[in-house]
Amino acid sequence: MTITTFEQLLGTLKKVTDDITKTIPFKNIQSFLGDLKQIKPTWPALKIGNLVAPTPIVQGGMGVGISLSSLASAVANVGGIGVIAANAIGLLEKDYYKDGREANLRAFRREIRKAREMTKGIIGVNIMVAVSDFHQLLDVAIEEKVDIVFMGAGLPIKGIPVEKIRENGVKIAPIVSSARATEMIFKMWKKIYNDVPDAVVFEGPKAGGHLGFTEEQLEDPAYQVEAIVPEIAKVLLSYGQEFAREIPLIAGGGVYTGEDIYQVLQSGAQGVQMATRFVATDECDADIRFKQAYVDCTKEDLGIIKSPVGMPGRAIRNKFITDSEAGIRPAFTCAWKCLSSCKAQDANYCISIALNNARKGVLQGGFVFAGSNAYKIQEIVPVASLVSELSTGYLLAERQKISSKLESLVASLQHLAERYKTMQGQVIELGKAYEKVLTTPSELMEKVTLTELRENYVKTQAKAKKLQLKMVEKLMASWYLLEPQRI
Ligand SMILES: Cc1cc2nc3c(=O)[nH]c(=O)nc-3n(C[C@H](O)[C@H](O)[C@H](O)COP(=O)(O)O)c2cc1C
Repeated sequence: MTITTFEQLLGTLKKVTDDITKTIPFKNIQSFLGDLKQIKPTWPALKIGNLVAPTPIVQGGMGVGISLSSLASAVANVGGIGVIAANAIGLLEKDYYKDGREANLRAFRREIRKAREMTKGIIGVNIMVAVSDFHQLLDVAIEEKVDIVFMGAGLPIKGIPVEKIRENGVKIAPIVSSARATEMIFKMWKKIYNDVPDAVVFEGPKAGGHLGFTEEQLEDPAYQVEAIVPEIAKVLLSYGQEFAREIPLIAGGGVYTGEDIYQVLQSGAQGVQMATRFVATDECDADIRFKQAYVDCTKEDLGIIKSPVGMPGRAIRNKFITDSEAGIRPAFTCAWKCLSSCKAQDANYCISIALNNARKGVLQGGFVFAGSNAYKIQEIVPVASLVSELSTGYLLAERQKISSKLESLVASLQHLAERYKTMQGQVIELGKAYEKVLTTPSELMEKVTLTELRENYVKTQAKAKKLQLKMVEKLMASWYLLEPQRI
C-alpha cells in the first residue's frame, strides 16, 4: 500500500464521516471528525513527563568522543533526543594525563553548553555508573540543567541526588538489560527516595559497545528486544500507576530501519534508542576514518570482545583486538583509574586509550565499537536524511498493517451510509403519508391504512436507528485503528 492510497482512504473516511456525523445524534462521534481532520502522517511522539520528542528516537550515547555536541544537537534539531556521552570525554583535552577528572568535567560542561547553543531541542547526557567520577559528572549535568540523564553500565541506585535532580527539572533514565534490573532499581528508588526514574532504556543484545549480557545470552531469543520489552513494560506500568505518571520505555540494540522502529513500538516501547546508524552521519563527532570503518566492514568483521570494563562488547574486530587476545600488550599509562573496577591488566589494553585512538581515526591503535547491523551501512549521510528515511519506513510499515483493515471499514461505512440515506428518505415519506391520512376528514380515513402506516413508520425508523448504531460502531473501529496517528 503506498502513501497516496492511504491518503485517499483517509480522504474518503473524512467525507463519509462528515456525512454521517451530520445525521447521528452522538456528541462524541462529532469529535471524531475533528480528530480526523488533525491526522498528520507521523510517528507517535516520545513523551517523558513534560519532555516531548516529536521523533521517538533517542540517539544512544557513544563514549570517548563519538557523540558530542555536534551529533547530539543534530538529532535534537530533527525532534529526537540527542545525547552527549560523558565517558572519558576529557581525552579531548590536552591535560587529561595531568588531571583526568578535571579534564572530564571541563570537556563535559563545554559540550553541553555547545549543544545548547546549537539547538533548542532535547539534549540528554549518558554517564556510565561504573566510572570513578560518576557523581561529579552527574553534578555537572544537573548544574547545566540537561533535559535527561541516561545512566548505564551499572545500577544507578546509591547516592543519587534526587531532590536536586527534581529541583533542576532534570529527568533520569537508567539503561537496563532485564526486567529484573528494572524492578531492582525502581524498588530501591522507591525505598530510598520515595520517587522513581522518569523513563527506562532497554539495551538489547544486538547493540554496539558494552553489553549487559553473557556471551551465551547474546543470540538467545529469550533476551531479545521483542521478548524483554513486554516484561519491562509490565514493571513500568505498575510503578507508573503507583506514582501516577507514565514511565516510557525506550528500547534499542539492532534497530536499523523505520520498520524496525515500528516493530519495537508495537512490542510495547514508546521510543527507540539507536546508535550505530548515527555513527555514519556527517554530524557524528568521530573522525571520518571511524565512520568509514562502518561503511567498509562486513558481517563477519563484527564480533564480541572482552572489555576491561568487565563486560562483553560488540566491535569491528581488527588486529588490535586479536593481538591483545593473543597477549600482545601495547605500552600504556593509566591516567587516573577512570573505571572503578578496571581490568586493563587482564585485557592487555586501556579501553579509553583504544577507543580514543579509534575516535581520532588511528584504527591500528584501537578498535571501533559497532552494533550488529553496522555491516549494512552503505554511506555517510546527514542526520536529517537518516531520520527522514526512518520516518518514511515507519509510516509505510504502519500503513501496511492498518490499510487493509481501514479499507474494509471505509467500504462498509460507505455502504451503511447509502442504506441509511435511503431509509431516511423512506421515514420522511412515511411520515408525510401518515400526516396526510391523519388530517383527512374522518369519514374518509380508513383505520387499516392508518395502523399500517404507523407500524411501517415505526419499523423503518427503528431500522434506521439500528443502521446509525452500526455506523457508530464502524466509526469507532476506524478511530481506534487510527489512534496511533492522532496528535
Ligand atoms: C561506538 C559506540 C559507542 C558506545 N558507547 C556507549 C557509552 O559510552 N555508553 C553507553 O551507555 N552505551 C554506549 N553505546 C551503546 C549505544 O548507546 C546504544 O545503546 C546501542 O549501540 C544501540 O544499538 P545500535 O547501535 O544497534 O543502534 C555505544 C555504542 C556504539 C556503537
